[in-house]
Amino acid sequence: MTDSSDLDPIAQFKSWLAEAEKTEPNDANAMSLATADSSGMPNVRMVLLKGVDAGGFVFYSNMESRKGQELAQNPQAALGFHWKTLRRAVRIQGRVEAVSAQESDDYFHSRARDSQIGAWASQQSRPLESRFALEKAVALFAAKHAIGTVPRPAYWQGRRIVPSRIEFWADRPFRLHDRTVFIREGEGWSTVKLYP
Ligand SMILES: Cc1cc2nc3c(=O)[nH]c(=O)nc-3n(C[C@H](O)[C@H](O)[C@H](O)COP(=O)(O)O)c2cc1C
Repeated sequence: MTDSSDLDPIAQFKSWLAEAEKTEPNDANAMSLATADSSGMPNVRMVLLKGVDAGGFVFYSNMESRKGQELAQNPQAALGFHWKTLRRAVRIQGRVEAVSAQESDDYFHSRARDSQIGAWASQQSRPLESRFALEKAVALFAAKHAIGTVPRPAYWQGRRIVPSRIEFWADRPFRLHDRTVFIREGEGWSTVKLYP
C-alpha cells in the first residue's frame, strides 16, 4: 500500500463519469445502491447520482421507502457504477448522512413540476391497489398544487454516501483487469492495487 494523499479519487471519478456521459446511451449517472437492514439482510436498487464532490455522492428519494427505512436502521451503503461502453466500473462504500434541507429543497425545485407532483403522489415501496389509484393521486395533488411553488414533501430527501473506500475497475485483456482501491486515511487517501 502506498501513501498517496495527493491522489484524488473524486477527481478521477468525475473524469470517468464525464467520459461515460459522452458514450453511454442514457443515464450514465445510474448507480446501484446497496443497503442492509438491522438484521444484515442486503437489498439493492438503482438510483441516480445527483451530486458528487469531496463530501460524497448524493441521491434523492422518498425516505419512507424501503431504502429509507433500511438506511434509518443502518446508515451505511455501497454504490456500484458500470459503464458498459467504457468497460469500467466503480464501487464505493461509506456511511450515509442526510443532505441539508436547503440542498433537498434546491434540488426538488429544480425538477420538472410533474416530477414534483409525482413525489407527492407516490407512496414509494408501499402496495399499489391499481394504476388508477396512482393516477387519481397525481390528479389530486396536481389540483392541490395547481398554482405557486410545489412544496417539497418532508419525506422526500437527499442522502450523501461519505466514501471510506472507492474502487476503480478497468477492463484489460484476458480478464487481467486493473483494480485500484482508494482507502480513506484521515484527510487523505491511501491506495492499493488488487489482483483481478
Ligand atoms: C435507472 C434508474 C434510476 C432510478 N433513480 C431513482 C432515484 O434517483 N431515486 C429513487 O427513489 N428511485 C429511483 N429509481 C427507482 C428505484 O430503483 C426503486 O424502484 C425505488 O427507489 C424503490 O426502491 P426501494 O423500495 O428499495 O426503496 C430508479 C430506477 C432506475 C432503473
